Amino acid sequence: MADITVIGGRNGLAAGVAGRLGAAHVKADVRVFPDGEGKITLDSRPEKGRPAAVVHSASPPVDSNLVRALSMIREARRFADDVTAVIPYMGYARQDQSFLDGEVVTMEVVAGLLESAGATRVVVVDIHSERALSHFSVPAANVSAVPELVAHFAGRDLSDPLVVSPDVGGIERARRFAELLGAGCATLEKERDRHTGEVRIVGADLGETAGRDVVLVDDMISTGGSIVKAAGFLKERGCGRIFAACTHALLVGGAGAKINGAGVAGVVGTNTIDGWAAGGGGAEVVDVSGIMAAALESRGGRRGPSPQPAAGQRQP
Ligand code: R5P
Repeated sequence: MADITVIGGRNGLAAGVAGRLGAAHVKADVRVFPDGEGKITLDSRPEKGRPAAVVHSASPPVDSNLVRALSMIREARRFADDVTAVIPYMGYARQDQSFLDGEVVTMEVVAGLLESAGATRVVVVDIHSERALSHFSVPAANVSAVPELVAHFAGRDLSDPLVVSPDVGGIERARRFAELLGAGCATLEKERDRHTGEVRIVGADLGETAGRDVVLVDDMISTGGSIVKAAGFLKERGCGRIFAACTHALLVGGAGAKINGAGVAGVVGTNTIDGWAAGGGGAEVVDVSGIMAAALESRGGRRGPSPQPAAGQRQP
C-alpha cells in the first residue's frame, strides 16, 4: 500500500486517485443542512503520521466547497504533518489580480486560507493563470489535462482540424493541444466588459477555416458566453463542425443548452467538476485521476514568492 492516505469523496475522483496510487481512501461524507451549512464526516480515521492528500474541487457552490476543502485539510493535519491540498478546480483563480480600482485579490485570501488550514503543498489542474499560484508560499503544482483531452479527440474522424483558443490568454494551451493532436492552431481575440461581464470577439488570427472541423479549447466554461460568441464567429467564416473542450465544465445558468443552441456539436470536459455532464446534452467526461496521482507521486511544484507584508505589519 502506498505511503499516503487520500481523503475526499464527493465524487469518484478521490477514489480514482487512491485506486491509481494503491493508497488508503478515507471517504468524506458531506451532509448539507437546510441553511446550506455542510457537515463533514470521515468514514474512518487516517493513519497517524502517514502523509495525506485531500482531494476536493472548489467548484460551484464555490464558497461552500472551499470551506469543505478547508475543513478536510484541517482534519487531515490532526493526523499528518504532510498534507497536500489537491484542488482540481481552483475557484477564485480568475481573481488573481485587481483589474479595476478597488477590486480585492481574493485568490490571495484563498491561498492564505488553504495554508492556514494546514496545507503543506498544493496541486491544481489547469489553473486559470500561473499568477494565481504565486500567492502560495508552500509548493504549488499545476498539472495539465490537455493530453487526456487530446486523447479523447485523437480517435475521431475530424476533417482538417483546427484548434482554436477563444482568447489570446489561452493560446499556449491551444498550441499544446494542437501539437499533440497534429492539427493547426489559431486564436480569437476576445474582450470582456469588466463591469457587465459581456464578451465579444473583436478579431482573430485564423487563416483558412472553410469546411474545417474546429476544436475550441479553454481552461473552463462557466456561463458559456465565450464559447457561444466564438462559435458564432467561426460559423460565419464557414467552418465545419465545432466542438468545445475544456478542463473545468462548470456550465452554470443553462450554459449547456446555450452552447448546444449555438450549434456546437459536443462538449468535452473532465471530472474536476462533479456531475456536470448530466445537464449538458452530448457532453462527455474525461477522467483526470491519473494525472493527479502522478502529481502526488512526483512531489514537484513551484514555490510562490512569499506575500509582502502589508504596511505596518510585523515581519516574521
Ligand atoms: C477566461 O479568460 C477563461 O479562460 C474562460 O474563457 C472564461 O472564464 C469562460 O467563462 P464563460 O463561459 O462565462 O464565458
